[in-house]
Amino acid sequence: MVTQVVGLQWGDEGKGKIVDLIARKYDIVVRSQGGHNAGHTVVVGGKKYSLHLIPSGVLNPDAVNIIANGVVVYPPQLISEMEKFGDTLKGKLFISNRAHMILDHHIAIDKAREKLRGKRAIGTTGRGIGPAYADKIARVGVRMGELKNVPKLLEKLEHYYQMNAGYFKFLGISLPNLRELEDKLYHWKQKLEEMIIDTSHYLWENLDRNILLEGAQATLLDIDHGTYPYVTSSNTIASGALTGCGIPPRYLDSVIGVAKAYTTRVGNGPFPTEEVGVWGDKLREQGHEFGTTTGRPRRCGWLDLKAVEYGIHLNGCDQLAIMKLDVLDGFPQVKVGIGYRKNGEELNYFPFDLEGVEPIYQTFPGWEGSSGVTRWEELPRNAQKYLEFIEDQLEVKISYISTGPQREATIIR
Ligand code: IMP
Repeated sequence: MVTQVVGLQWGDEGKGKIVDLIARKYDIVVRSQGGHNAGHTVVVGGKKYSLHLIPSGVLNPDAVNIIANGVVVYPPQLISEMEKFGDTLKGKLFISNRAHMILDHHIAIDKAREKLRGKRAIGTTGRGIGPAYADKIARVGVRMGELKNVPKLLEKLEHYYQMNAGYFKFLGISLPNLRELEDKLYHWKQKLEEMIIDTSHYLWENLDRNILLEGAQATLLDIDHGTYPYVTSSNTIASGALTGCGIPPRYLDSVIGVAKAYTTRVGNGPFPTEEVGVWGDKLREQGHEFGTTTGRPRRCGWLDLKAVEYGIHLNGCDQLAIMKLDVLDGFPQVKVGIGYRKNGEELNYFPFDLEGVEPIYQTFPGWEGSSGVTRWEELPRNAQKYLEFIEDQLEVKISYISTGPQREATIIR
């Protein structure tokens, strides 16, 4: 059985907690896209784990974890994450030989281009994601499998740097010292080589087992379907996960869409239900809404049902997980965006252009005391009504409700 967990908003929905929660039922957990721009915080046994590249399934001692072909891998980050887990990863982590590599110059280009964009900056995580994917699409990228032959890889990179010397100069980026680069490549080869395999082949051989595809970033950051250009550079939706790991589409059995009970966004770009005043600040404080990867304060606002519905259509979700319900405890009223108004006209769908779009809200009375609740019957009635409304509007069953950061603070229906 193949299950996909996908974010329905602008990321940071709490996918890591859902993956961790259900990973025990899965034999293999796969990351298919994105890179160390992602950040999952998972709390297990009171201990907090921040993961960026390694799939959250690593916290399940029996699961095999795969970093598949669609991921862009920054080897120093991967090595430092692996060190947290010591020897326990032996035979439990594999990296696709087809996954592209992020090198230091991608990070330097990302930062330099953001600076040049000025007020048009995307607000990237500065991890080199866009430039690495750009090289992949331009067919000049380098892949993890190429670490097997360092002299050949170095020669290829030397040519790449020669071809791009003018561009590097324009951006004020120095060309790498090839001697130092060679040392790094050999170090990465030594640390990673035995884990680099043909992961598509591995997955085909294991299609009869339980496979969990762990999404990174989220639907509204998808390069094709998100709020372009304020998006990431990969296909974050369920179909992108399949391209990103080589599993044929007909094997996908279930898609769990994950949304917060409200909305957040890091980086720039439109956000119709954003609350910039006291309510936004309260959401940020109660929800500890600061980026796992960059520490940036997240922009906060109310749940936008039309945005979530758009995500459900794109991903074909058959189940929903509503996260961080407890963060809404203590609000006198809770609002939900149910549509938009633009130039006096009502829109009943998530539009191409969000410029000048005003949300239409439905307001619900607030509640106290959902924090830590593990049974539906114990939820405050107003919280139940809020969730019933969401389920009714979206016409997809809410299977999981998260009421706190711990694995246990979850209602499973
Ligand atoms: P990039 O992926 O670093 O190029 O950043 C592009 C946009 O995606 C920026 O708005 C980032 O803040 C956002 N982004 C990238 N990764 C994540 C994530 O894991 N969670 C939330 N936002 C993200």
